[in-house]
Amino acid sequence: VPLQQYNTFGIVAKAHTLVRVRSVQDVHDLLADPALAGQPVFVLGGGSNIVITGDVKPVVLKMEIKGLRLVEETDRAWIVEAGAGEVWHEAVAWTIAQGYPGLENLALIPGTVGAAPVQNIGAYGVELQDRFDSLDAVDLATDKPFSLNAAQCAFSYRDSIFKHAPSAAGEYSDLPRGMGLAGRAVITHVRFRLPKLWTPDLGYADIERKIAETGVTEPTAQQIFDWVCEIRSAKLPDPAVIGNAGSFFKNPTVTEYQCTDIIAREPRIVHYPMPDGTIKLAAGWLIDACGWKGKTIGKAGVYEKQALVLVNRGHGEDSVTGGEVMTLARAIQTSVYERFGIRLEPEPVVV
Ligand code: EPU
Repeated sequence: VPLQQYNTFGIVAKAHTLVRVRSVQDVHDLLADPALAGQPVFVLGGGSNIVITGDVKPVVLKMEIKGLRLVEETDRAWIVEAGAGEVWHEAVAWTIAQGYPGLENLALIPGTVGAAPVQNIGAYGVELQDRFDSLDAVDLATDKPFSLNAAQCAFSYRDSIFKHAPSAAGEYSDLPRGMGLAGRAVITHVRFRLPKLWTPDLGYADIERKIAETGVTEPTAQQIFDWVCEIRSAKLPDPAVIGNAGSFFKNPTVTEYQCTDIIAREPRIVHYPMPDGTIKLAAGWLIDACGWKGKTIGKAGVYEKQALVLVNRGHGEDSVTGGEVMTLARAIQTSVYERFGIRLEPEPVVV
């Protein structure tokens, strides 16, 4: 099965087997199928956060479970449930249109609902974990459905239990920290907790700029949604036009001590103090400062408007390969390390 149309980088690769999952029952049926049972699986959502470096041997589960509904309303919050296969942006737009604000800062993030908890997607001052209620998943080893709350998902910056390899067997009701679920579970539904006492998140520099430009100091959720769409469209390449997987590296975190040292050498470095006392550096700035913006190696390029985004400079059959993307990524890592002593960690999942 060709995978080019299923990954936003547009990398040409094949899957040996691809199974469309439209319901929880489909997962159970798949696990009961003697031809597929026990085989390693790879869960595919929108394919917007992966780099495929060869043909994919595990059974690809293409998640297509749909559905958007209000499942609970309390005095304080709306609880909205979405199927893992819903397109993330459409789910966000639906909640705003229904009058349940809270996800507006996360507008236009590529990918599906089921992928959102895996990497705890975040943008413009809000992370999924800030609006997350719980999720349903199926254990691929035992075929048992289970649910996790936010604490059990062990969210942190672009990270969750779903990004870590399993280290031990255990019951999900009492999930020890450090026990990973990568490759072990498939998320089927996600629930969001959207407080009725809505307060906008306006702290991010790009949003502050919109407020200054428009003079709108008390924006509605719809207004913020529109601004975020404008900001993203201006800065980030549309995967339908230029293949990419969003930010290619995480923003690195350093100690205050390390940072003092770096700031002394590079006074213009973009950095943000974190609540725990560490300091987050803008990886895009570091890459940009090393002169990478707009550069190309083979068919892998660094986007000219945002150095943190690697792009596909090829087209169709002549697209970039996963190997070329990783070669460029390693060259960037080396030059950032040599100049700043900082190791950049890739953000997408390398398949
Ligand atoms: N910068 C440069 N040169 C560049 C790129 C950025 O100097 O080429 C500077 C910018 O001027 C700015 C700072 O770096 O002062 C931060 O840039 P930006 O606001 O574009 O955000 P980012 O830190 O590069 C992160 C997320 C994005 C998210 C935005 C907005 C990560 C890895 N990336 O990017 O998420 O949309 O903030 O919240 O945390 C993604 O994960 O795929 C993604 C797009």
